[in-house]
Amino acid sequence: MHNLTMRKVAHQNHGGSSYDWVEYFYQNAPEPELPWNHSARLSGAEKRAVIASIQQFQLGEGASGKRMLDRAQRFSRETGDLGLIAALKLFLREEQRHSRILARFLQVENAPCLRKHWVHGAFRAIRGIAGLELCLKVLVTAEVLARPYYAALRDATGSTLLRSICQLIFDEEGAHLRFQAFAISRFQNRHRAGTRALIKNAHAVLLASTAALVWIEHHSVFRSAGRTFRQFWRETWSEFEALYQISST
Ligand SMILES: [Fe+2]
Ligand SMILES: [Fe+2]
Repeated sequence: MHNLTMRKVAHQNHGGSSYDWVEYFYQNAPEPELPWNHSARLSGAEKRAVIASIQQFQLGEGASGKRMLDRAQRFSRETGDLGLIAALKLFLREEQRHSRILARFLQVENAPCLRKHWVHGAFRAIRGIAGLELCLKVLVTAEVLARPYYAALRDATGSTLLRSICQLIFDEEGAHLRFQAFAISRFQNRHRAGTRALIKNAHAVLLASTAALVWIEHHSVFRSAGRTFRQFWRETWSEFEALYQISST
């Protein structure tokens, strides 16, 4: 029955409740099985194409979200939606697991983890000054881009281990997108239609500039996967539209 709940909330087209999401994240919490013992390593060309890029994503996935949680706590109290804070905590834990998995992969490939990167620093700074709603928008922008990115990273390598890691993260990011749509809908219901349209447009501008940045910073991954900019752009906007479709139902 638990698995049914889990699948239902992660794949359905409406957001469910905060408690459904708590349930989902709990069900998904056990450590996933990945082929760590697979002996094949990346080739030299693969390493050049993907390692620097994975190092950046490893850092980005590991955000603690502490300041966001403080704001969420206030919001949860105001609205009486106490489940939301619990769901957000579990969601952040899952993101940190993505970061740990990528760190372990880098270790297998004898590559270090980064301590800082300017893109990560810039995102952190915006989240630091933003309120909870904008914080979530910034966060979800990264989620929207995560799916096309991990799909490309999977296709950029022949490594069974890296392909499995990418598939796992790709699937979990799909559920994250639905969770974020649900969290965003909590705010959307408080806005008038005109304000909503304005927010969506501002969000589209943020996404367009971030997508361009991701393409520039990670083009070696997209190129190795045989992705064109047009394909990447199309994938990104279809994730964005799906996000708003779910959050407005
Ligand atoms: Fe993630
Ligand atoms: Fe995510």
